[in-house]
Amino acid sequence: MSEVKWPIEDPFFVLDPQARAGYWEDVHAGQDYDNVYSLTEDEGLRLKIVGDLRKAGPRRILIPGCGSRVELQRAVIEQLEDVEIVCVDFPGVVEMAEARFAHPQLKYVGSDINTYASDVPFDAVVHVTSVVSELDSENRHILKATSELLRPGGLMIGVFPTVFAMLDVSLVTGETWRSNNIDLPSSSYEEPKQGVRQIFYTPLRLRRILIESGLTLEEMTIFFNDSEHLRLEGAKQYNLHDEDAVLYHLYCVAVRTQS
Ligand SMILES: C[S@@+](CC[C@H](N)C(=O)[O-])C[C@H]1O[C@@H](n2cnc3c(N)ncnc32)[C@H](O)[C@@H]1O
Repeated sequence: MSEVKWPIEDPFFVLDPQARAGYWEDVHAGQDYDNVYSLTEDEGLRLKIVGDLRKAGPRRILIPGCGSRVELQRAVIEQLEDVEIVCVDFPGVVEMAEARFAHPQLKYVGSDINTYASDVPFDAVVHVTSVVSELDSENRHILKATSELLRPGGLMIGVFPTVFAMLDVSLVTGETWRSNNIDLPSSSYEEPKQGVRQIFYTPLRLRRILIESGLTLEEMTIFFNDSEHLRLEGAKQYNLHDEDAVLYHLYCVAVRTQS
């Protein structure tokens, strides 16, 4: 399915590719990623991802936008047999990750995921909050390109932020200032700490984009960020203290459509 349905207009201010790489390298290096909410640090999410990978029995796994934290790749290697992982992120970011955790079954590639190519197809791709450009066209391109790196029938697991999570928190708590950073028509959220606008898709648009990317969506569920670790992170990064007002992400499982 090639028609681009429900595109989002580009914002007025757009980072050029070099500035984007520099931005992410600074985020990871500048403060040791301490000012960013990292989902791969959560054991519950890692167990869920590893469980889904195990069911599909994949051997060759791509982790695009892996970041500088390494617990996801470590868990996959420790908990699944005979896996081979390729982690891709900007050069300065993978350098930090590799210094934290290197393994013979793990290869780091310093590359923009938009241009990453592989001669050997993957059995699975795992995106954890790695599709967060302010450009809808770029997000769509990344999802399509990484889906095309899968063998037919290969598995995509994607964890996506959604603009509804912060809106929901804002509505239930009455803390209306929380929605000041949200622009609903463009599904975007301005990260107050990072000062960048990012698209956090709503379920319907995301569903359609996954289909356009050549995937058959098997499951889209809500992953509540309510573990002890993520509650603490929510308090630290977003000043979230009400035990019921937790953020959430969209957890997707899809397979590359057989042509
Ligand atoms: C929100 S962070 C998530 C990092 C990691 N997946 C985690 O959960 O800890 C988004 C990551 O995607 C990477 N990223 C964004 N756009 C990218 C691109 N075009 N090519 C490669 N990596 C990219 C960033 O450098 C960053 O590490």
